Amino acid sequence: MTDLFSSLSLNGYQLPNRIAVSPMCQYSCEPDGQATEWHRVHLGSRAVGGAGIVMTEATAVEPRGRITPHDLGIWSDEHADALAPTTEFIREQGAIPAIQLAHAGHKASKSRPWEGNRPIRPEDGGWEVLSPSPDAYPDFSGELPAMRKADSRALEEVTEAYREAAARSLEAGFEIAEIHAAHGYLLHEFLSPVTNRRDDEYGGSFENRTRLLREVVRAVDTVWPDEKPLFVRISGTDWLEGRPSWELEDSVRLAGDLAALGVDLIDVSSGGIHPAQEAPAGPNFQVPLAERIRSEQGEEVAVGAVGGITEPEQADALVRNGRADLVLVGREFLRDPYFGVHAATELGPEDADSKWPVQYRRAVSGPT
Ligand code: FNR
Repeated sequence: MTDLFSSLSLNGYQLPNRIAVSPMCQYSCEPDGQATEWHRVHLGSRAVGGAGIVMTEATAVEPRGRITPHDLGIWSDEHADALAPTTEFIREQGAIPAIQLAHAGHKASKSRPWEGNRPIRPEDGGWEVLSPSPDAYPDFSGELPAMRKADSRALEEVTEAYREAAARSLEAGFEIAEIHAAHGYLLHEFLSPVTNRRDDEYGGSFENRTRLLREVVRAVDTVWPDEKPLFVRISGTDWLEGRPSWELEDSVRLAGDLAALGVDLIDVSSGGIHPAQEAPAGPNFQVPLAERIRSEQGEEVAVGAVGGITEPEQADALVRNGRADLVLVGREFLRDPYFGVHAATELGPEDADSKWPVQYRRAVSGPT
């Protein structure tokens, strides 16, 4: 029986279990994008806590791709060096270090959530942001950033930045790379007709809107080894029924195309493209999207579910019932860095005690 603690094999690569820390921005770098002690402790403690995969937050492939000036980045060798101690520590705990490679597109150049999440104009220390179309809708905050339509040179720069970022991720010790194509950031902005109103070969048809993502996947694939897993996070739907938008049918088709390019897992999130979205919330709120993609493309590509997964039994049921191959947990891992070992204790695999780090094991498994 496949369960939460069974190993997942992706093209021969073995993951220790089916629990991943979902990428979560920490906005905790100095404005140079380099990892700090915060990243080592934050990510490291989730590896101690029994996650099979520990994924970094959205990590910008170039400076203009940061959501805020405090985002993590990987656009130079120094950035890779700053991340190396974190990947080493994660590996020492028996977990797999993963990096989410991101470009925030026209949702870049903002203040941090706890500073208002407002666009920062270039004259105030921000920068001009890249967008598929110059007339994209207002930001979720209702304000317009300083936007520039991405010309073909900018698209080449972005694709090359992804390739270089993947090569540096390998140098930094990451075992999994995830391309962020969800949540209204650059690659999703190209996928969705809500934000992509181009009339060149990157706009219009499904084929054209998915072109940039396919080019990025191919560029990453030139440096990312075949034996290491490659994930893509997508928004399964824009949640904008009744108007031209990115829909679940598009995601099913895209998953097949990405599988053909060698992508190993589709990480299915949703939304983020437009403030009018009508997104559900609550337990498993995005799981039906993952489940549908898995039912249609599961022979070709593995599928990860995320969103509202907070209970060990709930996570286990998703795997046992074949609704997802991998479970990504976000906020619950913030509340409980030990979610993985707590799940093992609750679900009771025979070796549950061994999920605790050796330093704690005897102390926590005996009588109180
Ligand atoms: C997120 N999320 C997110 N997603 C992503 O793809 N890249 C990111 O960097 C971030 N950053 C981020 C920060 C914080 C503080 C939160 C809470 C969320 C979304 C996250 O990965 C996850 O998909 C959602 O939180 C839904 O899962 P949970 O939290 O319900 O398990």
